[in-house]
Amino acid sequence: MADYETILVEKRGRIAVLTINRPDKLNALSSKVHAEGVQALDELKSASEVRVIVIKGAGEKAFVAGADISEFADASPVVQREVMNSRSLFTVLDTFPKPIIAMINGFCLGGGNELAMACDIRVASEKSRFGQPEINLGIIPGGGGTQRLTNLIGESKAMELILTGEMIDAPTAFNYGLVNYVHSAEELESKTMELADKIAEKSPIALQMCKEAVKFASRSNIDEGLRREIDLFAICFSTEDKKEGVAAFLEKRKPVFTGK
Ligand code: COA
Repeated sequence: MADYETILVEKRGRIAVLTINRPDKLNALSSKVHAEGVQALDELKSASEVRVIVIKGAGEKAFVAGADISEFADASPVVQREVMNSRSLFTVLDTFPKPIIAMINGFCLGGGNELAMACDIRVASEKSRFGQPEINLGIIPGGGGTQRLTNLIGESKAMELILTGEMIDAPTAFNYGLVNYVHSAEELESKTMELADKIAEKSPIALQMCKEAVKFASRSNIDEGLRREIDLFAICFSTEDKKEGVAAFLEKRKPVFTGK
């Protein structure tokens, strides 16, 4: 892996842990974080030994406290539109072929919440806090927040969070369906890695097809979604992993998936 200034990558067997590393700025998403994060994810995409990615923020205080507000000060509308339409972390995560788990320990705000929502699964510590505070800066979410939050928790709760800019705590985020699990700060990492390990054992091809099919659900009508699901289901029948999975079941043993 290349050396980055704002990103750390550590490989633990089949899991890669990607850390956004600006703890003194609560891991705010600067343009450098976006550029380096995208580059690191491109590397991880082609690393065949890596089956699952876990994303976290450095330090004890924040996952990510939003876009780097200092970069907003002099930004023109045209430049800002260009930035948001470019290959940002949000778009790369959204279309990433391998499962991504956001491990959230602390503030998860604005672009941080948008980043977590662009991942596939969110696991939070009980001290995490979530929100879309852009309204307090006189702007709106621009990294997918209005769309993904609404898809995840429904229009009425999303509307309230986005219009008030207020934060919610981890149990509320769990009740809303924004996060999959809440653990104590001490157990957050071990529980997240346990989940990542469980997913990493599956066929990477089938995982990729699952992601594509599930993500399509909120972007299509049900008939198109059902047709897409059947196509992806059928593609799985061309793989060695499908042969192995079915054979292992019939032979009453654990499958070993190779991604072929
Ligand atoms: N962009 C740039 N810098 C940020 C930042 C952001 N989104 N969030 C925090 N920081 C910086 C602070 O400016 C401060 O830097 P400094 O030490 O050089 O002054 C440092 O991170 C620590 O933050 P601080 O505000 O001192 O911590 P706190 O515990 O008092 O408050 C928050 C924590 C999260 C409530 C507060 O930092 C905050 O409101 N951040 C902005 C959240 C936001 O609006 N995000 C959406 C952006 S679109």
